[in-house]
Amino acid sequence: MENNRKAPLELTAKEFKSLGHNLIDSISGFNETISERPVTTGETPKQLQSLLGNQSFPENGTSASVLLEKATDLLYNHSLFNGHPKFMGYITGSAAPIGALGDLLAASVNPNVGAFALSPMATEIEKQTIQWLAQFIGVESNYGGVLVSGGNMANFTAFLAARTAKAPANIKEEGLGSLKKKLIMYCSKSTHTWIDKAAILFGHGTNAIRWIETDADNKMNLEALENAITTDIIEGNEPFFVVGTAGDVSTGTVDNLEGISAICKLYHMWFHVDGAYGAPANIIPELEATFKGIKEADSIAIDPHKWLYSPLEAGCTLVKNPKHLTDAYSSHPEYFNFDTEDAEQNYYEYGLQNSRGFRALKVWLMLQQVGRQGYQEMISEDIKLSKLLFELADQHPNLDAVTQSLSIATFRYIPSEIPQHLENKQVYLNELNEKLTTRLQKSGEVFISNAIINENYCLRSCIVNFRTSKKDIEEIIDIVEEEGNKVHQQMLTDSVLQLQNQ
Ligand SMILES: Cc1ncc(COP(=O)(O)O)c(C=O)c1O
Repeated sequence: MENNRKAPLELTAKEFKSLGHNLIDSISGFNETISERPVTTGETPKQLQSLLGNQSFPENGTSASVLLEKATDLLYNHSLFNGHPKFMGYITGSAAPIGALGDLLAASVNPNVGAFALSPMATEIEKQTIQWLAQFIGVESNYGGVLVSGGNMANFTAFLAARTAKAPANIKEEGLGSLKKKLIMYCSKSTHTWIDKAAILFGHGTNAIRWIETDADNKMNLEALENAITTDIIEGNEPFFVVGTAGDVSTGTVDNLEGISAICKLYHMWFHVDGAYGAPANIIPELEATFKGIKEADSIAIDPHKWLYSPLEAGCTLVKNPKHLTDAYSSHPEYFNFDTEDAEQNYYEYGLQNSRGFRALKVWLMLQQVGRQGYQEMISEDIKLSKLLFELADQHPNLDAVTQSLSIATFRYIPSEIPQHLENKQVYLNELNEKLTTRLQKSGEVFISNAIINENYCLRSCIVNFRTSKKDIEEIIDIVEEEGNKVHQQMLTDSVLQLQNQ
């Protein structure tokens, strides 16, 4: 029987085809020209709001072709492109084109990967993706897990599983208030801010975090870790969770995972690895020693939207014994009729989400498009380019190379002469490098971020970008020198004017 309903959102097959072809052509042109565009336009919120206009919610509809044309124009001409070869700020990967196609396909079939019954093939694809991710980072295939939106969520998901497993009472029913001892977590001073959010949101408070000092090589000091744990035990607290970071956000340092694992075993604590950024580098055989101990982790956070080059959003929690996830998250409301027989896996029981999108598809496609060899090639090239940036900074008379680890290099602009009347050289250099970072970020030529190392403000580049080349690195050195000099000259002029006005 013919369906006569004409819903306003429906597109005919002909309309969809024509819009889709046009959009793909336009995206293809965008991908081809990305390196010729500015990394960002640096426009202010006000400028962007005036482009959008302030009309109220429209009463009537507009044709899809007009809307898509407008959206592409707004996005191509007023965005920051983390796929640009000279984007190396923070940690967001250049997105693999097949990931975009995967997202289009996922949204079209639109499985709800909360339950097997609602997403039969998608659930199995997610399971396979998770197995492959475990193999990718070099841990045993008994690890299971769940895909989540990113690094924060991957760490939170593991944190709550750890807490359920390690709390001495049944906190699922009785809550944190029922515990006689305070649960304590340990991490190095370089740990990403997710740990603060976890402590705040999940009811522990930030005083439950022990920020362990780092050694000269920026790794967690294991003696200090053990001292902190024993002090807490003596004081009547309950140490339960240690984070080892595999690639810290500022410098890319990988903690001594093997050493942390041994301490966790000794004190019966949960060993979590935050490998959101760095864990994929364990695919490089020469880095095996760096990641030694990762196989002992009770849980690991990894982030395909960082160094696996997935489009946002894609994170993953891996747990050595996946039952810890279902112990924490499973529930069986009467309105769910989801079979658990026949090995059906319902992902709503593995994490915080109920309805879930099919983010696994893009990752599954990317992993197969290039395989282990393709990833080894891209990740080792990123590391090579980061080392080149560090070396060029080291050789440059006005740059000071500070750290290099995995694909993160930090460095500073140091002018050849700093006038005598500027009393505090460190304050001046910090201000100069901070101003330079802001200037570079707005310039559209290159996007790098910052790191504070031993109280020194540094420029920081993180290359998780298969589009970056040797030429980009050489050009970045020139750009930093030129812009650094401009900022220095401006600051000198300002300081002389200030002196005159005193
Ligand atoms: C080590 C580490 N953990 C966690 C995160 C948070 O990841 P996301 O921004 O995807 O939530 C980051 C982000 O850079 C990170 O570097």
